Amino acid sequence: MPYAHITGWGMAVPEKVLTNDDLSRMIDTNDEWIRDHTGIRERHIARENEFPSTLAVAAAIKALQVANLKPTDIDLIICSTSSPEHIFPATACLIQDQLGASRAGAFDLSAACTGFIFATNMAAQSIRSGSIKTALVIGAETLSRFVDWQDRNTCILFGDGAGAFVLQASDQPGGVLSAVMHSDGSGGDSLSLPAGGSRFPANEATIHEGKHYIHMDGRAVFRFATRVMGHAAKEALELAGLTTDDVQWIIPHQANYRIIETAAKYLKLPLDRFVINVDRYGNTSTASIPIATVEAIEKGLIKKGDKIVFVGFGAGLTWGALTADWTGPLPTERRVHPESYRTWARVRSWLLRVARLIEGLIWGRES
Ligand code: UT7
Repeated sequence: MPYAHITGWGMAVPEKVLTNDDLSRMIDTNDEWIRDHTGIRERHIARENEFPSTLAVAAAIKALQVANLKPTDIDLIICSTSSPEHIFPATACLIQDQLGASRAGAFDLSAACTGFIFATNMAAQSIRSGSIKTALVIGAETLSRFVDWQDRNTCILFGDGAGAFVLQASDQPGGVLSAVMHSDGSGGDSLSLPAGGSRFPANEATIHEGKHYIHMDGRAVFRFATRVMGHAAKEALELAGLTTDDVQWIIPHQANYRIIETAAKYLKLPLDRFVINVDRYGNTSTASIPIATVEAIEKGLIKKGDKIVFVGFGAGLTWGALTADWTGPLPTERRVHPESYRTWARVRSWLLRVARLIEGLIWGRES
């Protein structure tokens, strides 16, 4: 049975930064309160021309470069997102098209901030089963588009960004070792975006009632998060036959510094074994774990052979953890530049559109 190794990684965030002081000029809040209650100092916010797919493609190209793969090597793209560009088509399909990953099947996965863990596990299981060899897993969000900028309970928390992993099959032991995935739909109301789906399709009333914004019972989510984070990490470790002593790094969902502190206490681990960057990005939801991972790698913190626990929680409610034996890129001889495929991807995409148009005209004339 092949092993599923994480062989590539990349991240992308919008250029525009919104600081706590900027927020204090927009609503009744201040830098001290936000830092004390969340640990956040600033977050990146998408401009009008930035979307989950554009951030995802930028992150994916970097991940493919690290893995030394071309877009056409990918068999499967899973995009975890809670801010998809449309109800359908899936954001993963937009990414597939923009990358020119013409061989890949692509779909979105909706598990909120836990989504990247669920998606990585799904990709790893597809590799382990032998049904695919190479997967691109992406967490991408522009939740700033769904934030009520008058609601100080939520608008201070979220930031935009994307992170990507490449997973590849190899006979060498290692890679993803274990995962646990949990859900409790009875808590769904504590963090939701009520309208825009088929229960409350957009209309004047839903807009008037602010149902297209994120609604959150912050204290309830806080209690839930502190209850499940450490426990999920322990479960995944046990499943892999590991203990916290074997682990070099815990990479948690970056929602709130105080939640991470509580998880560290539960696991009896010092905070310096946790990768934390919530101060500079805020809560980027499903993108937060890969963004934190990429930063840790770029700082030289993560080394080949390190055991890592990824752990997250989010709306749904959902929570989960995944352990991995860090390997890095697989040995390869050719050098490829995925960026060079983008021009071809654009040309290919337009050619396919023109072909569909001509096909439609011919069929129309014939029928
Ligand atoms: O990915 C999952 C996403 N969600 C989360 O992770 C959220 C988890 N929850 C939290 O992180 C925290 O509950 C919050 C950061 C949202 C809130 O922190 P808290 O310590 O639970 O504050 P609180 O809601 O209990 O509010 C305390 C006070 C209230 O004032 P009163 O009623 O005591 O007078 C709030 O009105 O702080 C007030 N407050 C603020 N003050 C200044 C709430 N938000 C703000 C604000 N600036 N932005």
